[in-house]
Parts: sequence; C-alpha cells; structure tokens
Amino acid sequence: MIAQGRRVISEAMVAEIEALAPRYPNRRALVLPALHIVNRELLHVPLDAVVDIAAVLGLPPAEVQDTLTFYQFFHQQKPHGKVRAFVCRSISCALRGGDELLESLCHANGIDPYGTTPDGQLTIEPAECLGACDFAPCILANDDLLKNMTPEAAEAELKKPRARAT
Ligand code: FES
Repeated sequence: MIAQGRRVISEAMVAEIEALAPRYPNRRALVLPALHIVNRELLHVPLDAVVDIAAVLGLPPAEVQDTLTFYQFFHQQKPHGKVRAFVCRSISCALRGGDELLESLCHANGIDPYGTTPDGQLTIEPAECLGACDFAPCILANDDLLKNMTPEAAEAELKKPRARAT
C-alpha cells in the first residue's frame, strides 16, 4: 500500500496496473505499461509518481526512473498538452515538407518544438518515422494519424477535440 501523504497516482491507476499483471511474466515487465497509464492520466510522470509506481510494483524507484529516462516519450517536469502532436521529420516526410510543417505549426501556436501552448491544449514535438511514409508528411496527434498534412489542414485538425493518448 502506498503512503497517503505524497501519493500522486490514484487507486484507479493502481487498479489498472494490477489488472494488467496476469498478462506479464513479472512485476518488472509492468514498468512500461504503468508509466503509460500514469502518463495518460497526469500528462506527465513526476518523480513522486515514479516512487508510487515503484511501490506498487515492489521495485526500487531507480529502476522505474531508468526506464522512464530511456524513452524521450515521457515528460517529467511538467505536463504536456491535452493533445500531443508528433510531427514526423524523417526522410519521406522531410522531402514532402515535414520541416516546414513543424515550423509553421509552432509559429502558428506561438511555441517552440517540444513546447506547450499556455492553455495546456497542445504540445508540438518533432518525431522520427511514424511508419506511415506513404502519407508523408504526417503527424501523430494522440492516437490519431493525420496523413498528407498541409500546415492549414494540420492547424484545423489539431483544434479538434481528441481522446487522450494511450
Ligand atoms: S518518414 Fe514520416 S512517416 Fe516515415
């Protein structure tokens, strides 16, 4: 059980993590799914949440932190936007305007790459190949792949409400 005082992950998150346990060979294998569950709910994984996850899984916090820092995906210092837009900058997308798309979206929203709009709605991040080169340039917005994007189409798409990333 986690000490109530500093707990940042909810009982619902703990229950979701525990529900996955039968599908994994050991508690250590649950670290990454647990990070995703917490990130989906808190929009980042602060250090206190790392400690909580470690307590739930019976692991040293350093192990959870090691996994977190291995992936650029997880923000730790502050939440990302409700919509997280990964703009592909790999070769196929770059050849079809991916860099300009990223620059234009950042400019239109008044933020730098990796930045979040002041209202907390949108984070724009450069990404490597999204595995959808046929549809270059493309963007992954939460769980939605946006294909053949122009700056105007992307701006309109990113204003639409979207389910949280899983
Ligand atoms: S290069 Fe952009 S999806 Fe592959």
